[in-house]
Amino acid sequence: LRDQLPTSAIQSKKLRQLDGYVGFANLPNQVYRKAVKKGFEFTLMVAGESGLGKSTLINSMFLTDIYSVEHPGPSARIKKTVNVDTNNVLLQENGVNLSLTIVDTPGFGDAVDNSDCWDPVIQYVESQYENFLDAETRVNRIVLPDTRVHACVYFIAPSGHGLKPLDVEFMQRLHDKVNIIPVIAKSDTMTPEEVARFKKQILNQIVQSRIKIYEFPESETDEDNEKHENRKMKDRVPFAIVGSNTIIENGDGKKVRGRKYPWGIVDIENLDQCDFIPLRNMLIRTNLQDLKQVTNDVHYENYRCRKLAGVAGGSVDKIPNRNPMAQIEEERREHCNKLLKMEKEMEEVFERKVREKKQKLSDSENDLEKRHKESKEKLEQQKRELENKMLAFEQEKAAWEQAHHVTIDELKRLSMESLDG
Ligand code: GTP
Repeated sequence: LRDQLPTSAIQSKKLRQLDGYVGFANLPNQVYRKAVKKGFEFTLMVAGESGLGKSTLINSMFLTDIYSVEHPGPSARIKKTVNVDTNNVLLQENGVNLSLTIVDTPGFGDAVDNSDCWDPVIQYVESQYENFLDAETRVNRIVLPDTRVHACVYFIAPSGHGLKPLDVEFMQRLHDKVNIIPVIAKSDTMTPEEVARFKKQILNQIVQSRIKIYEFPESETDEDNEKHENRKMKDRVPFAIVGSNTIIENGDGKKVRGRKYPWGIVDIENLDQCDFIPLRNMLIRTNLQDLKQVTNDVHYENYRCRKLAGVAGGSVDKIPNRNPMAQIEEERREHCNKLLKMEKEMEEVFERKVREKKQKLSDSENDLEKRHKESKEKLEQQKRELENKMLAFEQEKAAWEQAHHVTIDELKRLSMESLDG
């Protein structure tokens, strides 16, 4: 994805040093002040089967109860059809305001037949792009709050058996629309070895299914140490997480956010126990802006191109990513191909008919010839039989004349004379 981001024109120009101080070095401060004044917007989607700890993780991540009493956590809901819920909260940290929208998908994967359960999610993501595009393309452009989904944390059940078909299908359908960050939910249910094996298995499946999950960028600082830290955090993907909303006391009497079991406690902020901190750091501390940028420059841009280039009325999914001229040219080519195909089919039919007629004629000719030959043979046979009969008769006649010492002709003559007398 990052390859598709525009590279800065500044990088390709020659650098000139100034003789004195002009003041534009203060520009970052101006941008900073303006940005802080304006505040930041971020939309985070959580998806995955119910009960995997989505609400717990969100609350742990932002250290506040985002799912408050007025907006009960999804687990409290009894509705089981997939719908999309949004929860907007304004958070403040050191004077910086963050308008955080959490998009939840209660009921996802809960039905017996889960085919198409990703549809409401896709519709939600695209409707946000649609609203943004609509506001952008108006004659009088209006600035809408940016409600596009900047990241989707996808919860994988800690089954130890890899991704389920539903996980693969969901990620395949969403990966070109939103930044997907896969996480292993409730990783405290597995041993470290099992987690490592499970992670490997998931990554293999992701590669095999050609899923493009969000790739955390390399650290841009020059500090080797930080780069190394960044790489170490990146290598933990998919993050194996544990969520908790309770503060407990660990063995050293320190208060930590964790989960208490009869055999011990899980400190969710301990890097040896889970990847909660790497996830939180990579998502909020380091890459919030990058997630927004990739959403705007890659996912939204793809949507915008498809939408503007597409035929009116078609669903964005069905509209290929191309420009109108290319589309007209393709349609013309398709039409020509269709005509050629029809012509070829007609020629084939004609040739087949001619072939059949010729075959019929030659068959009847052969038949006639055969019948003629047969009747000729029959007649010759009859002739031969008659000749044989004639010969036999002649022989019998000669034998009779010899036996009676009179010829048939003499006998005929005598009988004529007696008749006259
Ligand atoms: P839905 O809203 O129904 O989709 O559920 P959810 O995914 O939001 O789950 P929720 O945060 O409500 O957590 C469900 C149960 O799992 C609760 O009892 C949590 O205390 C528990 N839970 C949450 N995170 C963890 C975890 O990391 N490990 C363990 N063992 N349990 C957890």
